[in-house]
Amino acid sequence: MDDLSAAVASAPAVRAPPELTIVVPTFNERDNIRPLLGLIAKALKGDSYEVVFVDDDSQDGTLQELQSVARSDPAVRYIHRIGRRGLSSAVVEGMLSSSAPYLAVIDADLQHDETLLPDMLAVLRGGKADVVVGSRYVEGGGMGEWDASRQFISRTATRIAKLIIRAELTDPMSGFFMLTREAFAGAMRNLSGQGYKILLDIFASHSSTLRLRELPYEFRTRQHGESKLDALVTWEYLMLVADKLFGRLIPVRFLMFLIVGGLGVFVHFGVLTLLLKGLNADFQASTIIATISAMTFNFFLNNLLTYRDRRLKGIWRITKGLFSFYVVCSLGAVANVGVATALFDRDYVWWGAGLAGVLVGSVWNYAATSLFTWRQKK
Ligand code: GDD
Ligand code: MN
Repeated sequence: MDDLSAAVASAPAVRAPPELTIVVPTFNERDNIRPLLGLIAKALKGDSYEVVFVDDDSQDGTLQELQSVARSDPAVRYIHRIGRRGLSSAVVEGMLSSSAPYLAVIDADLQHDETLLPDMLAVLRGGKADVVVGSRYVEGGGMGEWDASRQFISRTATRIAKLIIRAELTDPMSGFFMLTREAFAGAMRNLSGQGYKILLDIFASHSSTLRLRELPYEFRTRQHGESKLDALVTWEYLMLVADKLFGRLIPVRFLMFLIVGGLGVFVHFGVLTLLLKGLNADFQASTIIATISAMTFNFFLNNLLTYRDRRLKGIWRITKGLFSFYVVCSLGAVANVGVATALFDRDYVWWGAGLAGVLVGSVWNYAATSLFTWRQKK
């Protein structure tokens, strides 16, 4: 035996590698970190686990808190992401950073019932399920203090989820679950990673049917900090569903861009009607104003929805973006008119020529604005 292997052989095992990695996405959760760790420790005493926080550059002191606990507790790690946002993608990164055979996700805000963790682990160890989900909708579970409208939204979203998954999940919106490494590995390359609904994403992305167990829990009320769910989360959810439904045929972002463009047509004609009929304005001038209004409308809507993840913020970046959008779309209009006229001159039916023009213009606008207006950060 050489020196090195002798040293390795005689070194004491400082700590066993964890059997379970618990991924906790955080965004401004400073006051929840320590209480959560305390509760998990109490629930899982005797089990070997680690906790991996994935934080998207919180500015409320969460990171200082994470660093301080990670320095004193070897079972705690964290990933600090900069310039990124997203619950699902955070969870995916946390899971990818782990080598444990079992992986769990739990919210940082103490709304999920951590006392379920040992039961979840027991089910997976038993080998009869690939995923164990904490559900609010099976017998014994509950919504906690959600008001009627949020309950309605959640139930509707659950119905929509049936479009993309076959599994009998009662609570596909749940952000509280545990799964085997193999189950995660089977889905990880196809994940959409968009938005909030990582469990749904995993089920929709897995090549085979996952064996499922659901355990009831009661959703708790948040004590510290606030929810990060805003109105646009609904939007991101619909995008995830659309991506899973026909993302293979046509990129959802392009589809989105087309829909926004379609709405722009209405803005164009609205403004045109107003100026012509309401103010008796000159046709050419009205058309110019209508065109600029529609482009401006499209820019802001795309910035809010289509490019939500690369959203331009701040007056300077928005102004710059808006002008590059004007330039690109004007060139798109030239291409549109050029193609349509050329085809029309070759005796194509008028609407066919028109449609071809619109398509060429849209593809150009989409490609060029994604390069110039909403350029991906390096
Ligand atoms: N890293 C990261 N990045 N974490 C985030 C982000 C983000 O962009 N947005 C939210 N989080 C973290 C929060 O800090 C919290 O720990 C957890 O994700 C859930 O966020 P909340 O804002 O508290 O969500 P909620 O309470 O409205 O919804 C929760 O319950 C639903 C019902 O079960 C989430 O867990 C949902 O996924 C779940 O569907
Ligand atoms: Mn919450």
